[in-house]
Amino acid sequence: MKRGKKNSAAGDPLTSSDTRTGYSELNVMMKPSLSSIKSMGLLLAVLMVASVMFSLSVVLRDPPSDDDVVETESASSVLQIRLHQDDGLSEKKEQLGDVNLVPSFDKGSCLSRYEASLYRKESPFKQSSYLDNRLHRYEDLHTRCGPFTRSYNLTLDKLKSGDQSDGEVSACRYVIWLNSNGELGNRMLGLASAFLYALLTNRVLLVELGLDMADLFCEPFPNTSWFLPLEFRLNSLFKEQSLLLNSGNPMVAYRHVVRDSRDQQKLFFCEESQVLLEETPWLILKADSFFLPSLFSVSPFKQELQKLFPEKETAFHFLSRYLFHPTNVVWGLITRYYRAYLARADQIIGIDIGVSESGNDQFQHLIDQILACGTRHKLLPEVEKQRHLPSSQVLNRKSKAVFISSSSPGYFESIRDVYWENPTVMGEIISVHKPSHKDYQKTPRNMESKRAWAEIYLLSCSDVLVVTSSWSSLVEVAHGLGGLKPWVLNKAENGTAHEPYCVRAR
Ligand SMILES: *[C@@H]1O[C@H](CO)[C@@H](O)[C@H](O)[C@H]1NC(C)=O
Ligand SMILES: *[C@@H]1O[C@H](CO)[C@@H](O)[C@H](O)[C@H]1NC(C)=O
Ligand SMILES: *[C@@H]1O[C@H](CO)[C@@H](O)[C@H](O)[C@H]1NC(C)=O
Repeated sequence: MKRGKKNSAAGDPLTSSDTRTGYSELNVMMKPSLSSIKSMGLLLAVLMVASVMFSLSVVLRDPPSDDDVVETESASSVLQIRLHQDDGLSEKKEQLGDVNLVPSFDKGSCLSRYEASLYRKESPFKQSSYLDNRLHRYEDLHTRCGPFTRSYNLTLDKLKSGDQSDGEVSACRYVIWLNSNGELGNRMLGLASAFLYALLTNRVLLVELGLDMADLFCEPFPNTSWFLPLEFRLNSLFKEQSLLLNSGNPMVAYRHVVRDSRDQQKLFFCEESQVLLEETPWLILKADSFFLPSLFSVSPFKQELQKLFPEKETAFHFLSRYLFHPTNVVWGLITRYYRAYLARADQIIGIDIGVSESGNDQFQHLIDQILACGTRHKLLPEVEKQRHLPSSQVLNRKSKAVFISSSSPGYFESIRDVYWENPTVMGEIISVHKPSHKDYQKTPRNMESKRAWAEIYLLSCSDVLVVTSSWSSLVEVAHGLGGLKPWVLNKAENGTAHEPYCVRAR
């Protein structure tokens, strides 16, 4: 998203300055030369030389760097091809340029911000310029109010004294997102929702570090930090949860937002409680769920949301692309995997299987359904079970990489074996991959969450996504990041699936 913005805004310094000087020279030359035929000839000659020089410069120029000009679809597919063919080239390309973009970021500290377009498809949606503006305004606000700024110190002092009246007033208000250290997908959905809430209420979002946040995500806002400073002692300020709930300190409020329809939950999204919260500089928010859609029902936010996201469904897509940039460590996991297993395929098919292996029957039924869905919609090729064509007879050299995300290895092995033991009808080459065998979603240790993040990101790089359920948080994040419309398997009745095996998610 950032990428799209700077592409259209900054453009390629080389070409744009080239053409600009080209034009001005022509203008200068045109006025005196119009008088005589002789100088017309001269002009022609100059034009010819110029055009030859221009084509030469196009030919000799380095391959387009990823911030080049308007990155049209064809340009990005050229990049894709280049990446597939020669990693050395693309590496060189990555080192070029980029310097002029987002100057407040140090490129080396967060490579994914600059290299994402090499791996992930361009967004199929257009970000509204209004959202662009609002994000810029938010960045300014965050820089003004971020940790250890004067305003932050001032507001923090007031929190400690619990008194709004004395001293200077600070214009800064905050929403602190509490980190549950729970499942990564849920946390990302909750955090993106909290950011939209901050945007809508002109608050500054501060993120509790937790065990791993700094290992997973780059700073999203330039020249400041979104992490709640460790000095901010949540625990010592409010010793107990009950204090948080009802602290009597007018400077702070605590809200726990969950994705259900209990009364307390509804209360948060009603206009009156939003008005009440406006006066409170510190809002501590515990939210591990995707409450973003509920914001669309809060009447004071409706108009603004309509302007930010003319297409409501794109809200998480844009926000997640803006907020979530993998750190260099995670980016290493993503890019090494991508280059080793996925980059050379003509098409990448991501499959998320959110079902653990259960009874033998159900297991085989699910495999059958995935394959039936895949072949029915031409996502996966059919296999030839009778005529075993030797591979030398292969006509179609197209290759597809199937990337499987699943907590149990059985599904991966079965699908791989189908394409290993049988040739495909048209001869496509199918490779099947699965990055991890660990059930890491349930054990949020450090490397585990990095791998989970890498897996989510890789899924979002698929060309096509097939999922067993659209309700998994991992799937929600992956298809949001990728801007993909996943195929969702229909719930099988009594274990056996029928047509339609899967439907396109909205
Ligand atoms: C970033 O912030 C520092 C100090 O807060 C300031 O000196 C520097 O100029 C800022 N840089 C940009 C690009 O805004
Ligand atoms: C804010 O407070 C911190 C210490 O609590 C201090 O290091 C910092 O310089 C202060 N910021 C300003 C702008 O005074
Ligand atoms: C599913 O199985 C139950 C009993 O096992 C049966 O009563 C029901 O009709 C079956 N449904 C379908 C759609 O086959």
